[in-house]
Amino acid sequence: MEKPEVKSRSEQWPSGNVDVKATQKAGVELLIRFHILDKIAKIHDPKNDAFQEHGRLLFDSLERLLADEEDACLRIRHSSLLLNGVRLKSSMGTYPIFKSVMEELRLRELDALAFKPGLTLDELYRFMPIFARRDKKDGSMYARLQAEVDAADIGHVVIEKASELRTPSNLNRNTARIFFLSIVHLKESFKRNQRDEGIRVHTTRRLMQSIYNHIVDNESFVFGMTNLKNHDEYTLNHSVNVCLLATALGRRLGLNRGELVDLGIAAFFHDLGKLETPLEILNKPGKLDAGEREIMEQHPFKGAEKLVLLKESRRLPLRAIHVAMEHHIKEDLTGYPRYFRKEDVNLFSKIVKVVDFFDAITTKRVYRTKVFTRAEALTLMLEQAGAEFHPVILKAFVNLMGPFPIGSLVALNTGEIGIVFEVNADPKLVLRPSVKLITDAAGNKIDGDVADLAEQDPATERFVRTISRALNPQEYGVEVSDYFLAQAQ
Ligand SMILES: [Fe+2]
Ligand SMILES: [Fe+2]
Repeated sequence: MEKPEVKSRSEQWPSGNVDVKATQKAGVELLIRFHILDKIAKIHDPKNDAFQEHGRLLFDSLERLLADEEDACLRIRHSSLLLNGVRLKSSMGTYPIFKSVMEELRLRELDALAFKPGLTLDELYRFMPIFARRDKKDGSMYARLQAEVDAADIGHVVIEKASELRTPSNLNRNTARIFFLSIVHLKESFKRNQRDEGIRVHTTRRLMQSIYNHIVDNESFVFGMTNLKNHDEYTLNHSVNVCLLATALGRRLGLNRGELVDLGIAAFFHDLGKLETPLEILNKPGKLDAGEREIMEQHPFKGAEKLVLLKESRRLPLRAIHVAMEHHIKEDLTGYPRYFRKEDVNLFSKIVKVVDFFDAITTKRVYRTKVFTRAEALTLMLEQAGAEFHPVILKAFVNLMGPFPIGSLVALNTGEIGIVFEVNADPKLVLRPSVKLITDAAGNKIDGDVADLAEQDPATERFVRTISRALNPQEYGVEVSDYFLAQAQ
């Protein structure tokens, strides 16, 4: 049988006669129903009652759409989901579903999934279990999926492979590139600043726009990269991590793209004032004495001053100056420098304050006796909500990171050890992230698969793997970032 093509029409913006609102509404309904059936199909076979009930619902949605459309085509484009060319809008409630469907399509290297008129309920029942599985053929989920769709003679469902540029490893490679470019650019900016040359703010802005895109497209991997800690160039590495985390947090708080680019720039330069702090103080192993502390506590002021005096200061967002000045002020107005009114502290400063603290205490430093794991850091920070941190911003950050933040080392009930690679977008399954297995049950090092802990054994309906506890990577000699970098090879 000749394979039908995914209509190119779906790639274009909708023409004038498409009812955009109606398509959006139908699209969101389709997404939700597809998402639910996909989840059920991971656990149950088509004979199951829940499968049949939700299969029927999805089929109804598709039948309605196909009654007057050439196809029903879900497509990923520029981090958005489109139905027949119309961009679907997520809300707070549907965001996890959008994210999950996009991830499911991406994992299978798909750009588009289309249903054609003539689709039967039986065909849909055959397709969903094939789609839901995550196993691979010749190392590719797409290859396995396409082979099985062909073998099962499913003629009214068409899948379209993503172009090579958008495969997960390519995406990761580009994200890693932006990460290292940011470090190089910051290093260069620091050098230029010390030589009294202007820093190239337009380059910073372009980088931040890329970072924003990567956070939208590849947030899990971006979080993975923030596990990279270069102890020799602490301030550079720390500043880039703070910039990535602040942008992701700001996005969760609902800031728009322009604001997020400004926030990224502000976070990027938040510790610029440390250029003036002598290295003996910055890297002193023991406690600082009163005089040294005073010098250390000048870095916010020095940073703000440097930014004001910058040749291109007018290209900088004003809020970058606020952030440099205010990122060590606590919510109860202790900290430094001294402010008298909470309202005077900028929102951007409060965001940077949270992620700055988080990155600092999860990084090994000569003067820090304890390095916190990411989960421990969040617990400790929650105890300081309202005193050290703005409670709502902190809560959003804790939710963003989840109970087992990406990069956490975890022991599983099977005896295996793994690294958290992706959090589960479903709020009910936050304790069941996807984990890259790095040892087998006997403790032998392996280059294992990424296991989805939400996966259940179809026979027993029990979860195959469950996290039993978090481990400290340092105690186990595990360099977490190596495993993320390997994904960008
Ligand atoms: Fe600082
Ligand atoms: Fe900092």
